[in-house]
Amino acid sequence: MRLVMAQDGPAVSSSGVPSLATQAVLVPSAETPMSATIRGWDFNDGCSLDGIMAAMLRTGCQATSLGQAVEEINRMIAWRLSNEPPGPADAGLSPTERRRVRAKIFLGFTSNLVSAGVREHVRYLVQHRMVDVVVTTAGGVEEDLIKCLGNTYCGDFALKGADLRARGLNRVGNMLVPNSNYCAFEDWVMPVLSAMLREQREQGARWTPSKMIERLGKEINNPDSVCYWAQHNGIPIFCPALTDGSLGDMLFFHSYKEPGLVVDIVEDIRRVNDQALKAAPRKTGIIVLGGGLPKHHICNANLMRNGADFAVYINTAQEFDGSDSGARPDEAVSWGKIRADATPVKVYGDATILFPLIISQTFAKTWEALDSSDTGAPKL
Ligand SMILES: NC(=O)c1ccc[n+]([C@@H]2O[C@H](COP(=O)([O-])OP(=O)(O)OC[C@H]3O[C@@H](n4cnc5c(N)ncnc54)[C@H](O)[C@@H]3O)[C@@H](O)[C@H]2O)c1
Repeated sequence: MRLVMAQDGPAVSSSGVPSLATQAVLVPSAETPMSATIRGWDFNDGCSLDGIMAAMLRTGCQATSLGQAVEEINRMIAWRLSNEPPGPADAGLSPTERRRVRAKIFLGFTSNLVSAGVREHVRYLVQHRMVDVVVTTAGGVEEDLIKCLGNTYCGDFALKGADLRARGLNRVGNMLVPNSNYCAFEDWVMPVLSAMLREQREQGARWTPSKMIERLGKEINNPDSVCYWAQHNGIPIFCPALTDGSLGDMLFFHSYKEPGLVVDIVEDIRRVNDQALKAAPRKTGIIVLGGGLPKHHICNANLMRNGADFAVYINTAQEFDGSDSGARPDEAVSWGKIRADATPVKVYGDATILFPLIISQTFAKTWEALDSSDTGAPKL
């Protein structure tokens, strides 16, 4: 470009545009980055879920993070002990057994997701033994059980609290739970608590939140339930704040009717941390939907083994306030809760939308395809 001096102004190019502006706007690019080019799904190619999901990685913004989460979870699913050189922790395992040893997957989720239809997604994973350890909050346990006794309904975020109160309806976001569900829950759970108290007194039973949830899952005896399948498949559900919900109300009432039931959280912190501490020779992966207690409890357990090997967070929380909910995976790396060489992913968004999409490209698709010989995997 030829530069000429304007009569009474800055240098201009031959086209008359001031060269200061062209130089500022048209800074030459360094070598083109070697990453994938951005290109979204072309609906001329149809409406295939697989196609749309495959295009996420190259769409940019949170779509790319969603694509990365799918890849990270598929790495968790694909990992086998046979990928690693033999070590002291797996001495004695045959090559066939080593091929059957998968990563141990910790799944955490907040209560509202069980009020929502994510309950069915979690139930699917637990039913098919696709996850190994579950952590949730009290509502995540009781709403699962209560849904076996009464329905939760679609409502609206804008429904007036005072009107709903007068009609005996409780609102969770845009979902409605009739009060009668909690009455049915009380009728169902009180005799179970009484039986637990008797076993404590007569047989020396020591209840912990996870043992209590296992017992409730057995008593509900309903294949719609996450708790039912968890006890059926020996998958522990941890909930150290089990009293912060309707279950807490029930324990409170029961403490007046028949005082004496003891629930020990110390035994459970040992049990959940041991799940990570003693996971070797397995690697561990964490999938956390939402923030709060489930997120921290799972990450903290993985600190006991110097960090998880794989991690996916899906939540709406931001980090500017220093909250644990908003903390990105890299903060957990600084604490030793996720390994420094891991490739963790955070997707910002509503798990009710994102998680079923993720499952469609991971557990529901790649679990069997990779290895159908999982029955008979050594118990580690
Ligand atoms: N249905 C219910 O929500 C319910 C019922 C009974 C008791 N409780 C109690 O309320 C307390 C607080 O609930 P909590 O700790 O489960 O979680 P929470 O509702 O406090 O959520 C924690 C964080 O998770 C993230 N999050 C929540 N929903 C999300 C979504 N759909 N997608 C992405 N991110 C999301 C948000 O950043 C949120 O700040 C718990 O003790 C629980 O037992 C809740």
